[in-house]
Amino acid sequence: KGHWTLGKTVVLVGMMGAGKTAVGKALAARIGVPFLDSDAEIEKAANMAISEIFQRDGETFFRARETEVIDRLLDGPRAILSTGGGAFLAERNRDLVARKGVSIWLDADLPLLWSRVKGKNTRPLLRTAHPYETLADIYNARVPIYELAEIRVRARPEYSVEAMAEQVLNAL
Ligand code: S3P
Repeated sequence: KGHWTLGKTVVLVGMMGAGKTAVGKALAARIGVPFLDSDAEIEKAANMAISEIFQRDGETFFRARETEVIDRLLDGPRAILSTGGGAFLAERNRDLVARKGVSIWLDADLPLLWSRVKGKNTRPLLRTAHPYETLADIYNARVPIYELAEIRVRARPEYSVEAMAEQVLNAL
């Protein structure tokens, strides 16, 4: 077990199903820093699930809360911060992360993402008649934006969560 001191909060970005939450938790435990999750913070503050927030208040409202939460969390102690898959799309959020943290793109390909999100009901954006096609469209539109992250770590189906955390540590 190495001795790690984070210079900045590590911000995990990437698609739904890339493993941001699972890898983030493992990484935080490994380094001994807090694990933060922007989706969980939004749910806690609203006392509603993300899907409910989308349904009741809409995506625009959700995105505004997301920026507030990211801004606030990045002002706190150094930590591992997992963000929702859409968080890196807003330039304001990318600026906040660039100034106060280090961005890591967990880059999983479409088959891997689909294998992880299919059949789950927690992602409002995938509640369409053709969720695979929707996921593919979102993926294709976002890859150029995720590429703006400072560090890219490839996710592979054969990697355990621990192995992925190790990959991130090696890349830092
Ligand atoms: C979203 C991803 C979700 C959540 C919301 C929107 C997105 O987070 O923030 O459903 O736009 O990709 P995960 O990436 O943790 O699933």
